[in-house]
Amino acid sequence: MTQRTLVLLKPDAVRRGLIGEIVGRIERKAGWSITALEMRSLDQDTLESHYGEHKGKVFYEPLVEFMASGPIVAIVVQGERVIEGVRQLAGPTDPIQAQGGSIRGDFGTIVRENLIHASDSEESAERELKLFFPGIS
Ligand code: RTP
Ligand code: MG
Repeated sequence: MTQRTLVLLKPDAVRRGLIGEIVGRIERKAGWSITALEMRSLDQDTLESHYGEHKGKVFYEPLVEFMASGPIVAIVVQGERVIEGVRQLAGPTDPIQAQGGSIRGDFGTIVRENLIHASDSEESAERELKLFFPGIS
């Protein structure tokens, strides 16, 4: 089942020079390909829309502030079961709970600064791809 998903390399990943490391792990999965990739800074409207499901939670404000603290890299990945697959590569939200071998498990310690976002369902992927890459069909 070929799918597309939205990946964001968060500001901590960019600051720490981990773009190549993380993109490389995605690229090496058989049959997956990167179909769009751009470094950019996120404005408040985009962040509010992207993380709208978390509005009102205690971590929402610091999360938005963190996501606006430096450039991110937005990536479209296409391939076999890529939505579930990138979530697996990333590991669970809390990097201390994440297994070694996963991106968060190998490089993270702080829940907020967990390096990578990946769409969590087909519905989220469709919404997020439209938000970040309105030009793609
Ligand atoms: P994401 O949406 O970024 O792919 O991450 P996720 O699905 O694994 O986690 P989610 O529950 O959607 O949370 C979104 C992001 O908010 C930050 N967060 N901080 N307790 C906290 O301080 C807390 N909880 C969540 C993380 O950056 C998480 O990825
Ligand atoms: Mg999420």
